[in-house]
Amino acid sequence: MAQFVVTTRDGTPHRLEIRDDRTVMEAIRDAGIDELLALCGGCCSCATCHVYVDPAHADRLPPMTDDESDLLDSSDHRTAQSRLSCQLPLGAALDGLSVRIAPED
Ligand code: FES
Repeated sequence: MAQFVVTTRDGTPHRLEIRDDRTVMEAIRDAGIDELLALCGGCCSCATCHVYVDPAHADRLPPMTDDESDLLDSSDHRTAQSRLSCQLPLGAALDGLSVRIAPED
């Protein structure tokens, strides 16, 4: 079964199952990890689903849209690894993906 790892702000890794009908944000939310607020529900308008993607996996993700980039610009914690997890559809090709929840803005 394909899985990915999300590391919460306290440094704890959580191994979650990959389902094709979920985004990274939805999988984290559905696992009961509440530090990812995801206030807009995934419509790319809040930036509270900010994660850092392990650079080793970045080339397996869809390219960032202008809207996603503009929203990430509103974060004080944007880095080269930043993505909005609601914009990252899961699939078997992402087996082994590793993301870390960004600090809260
Ligand atoms: S959940 Fe709001 S931008 Fe991702």
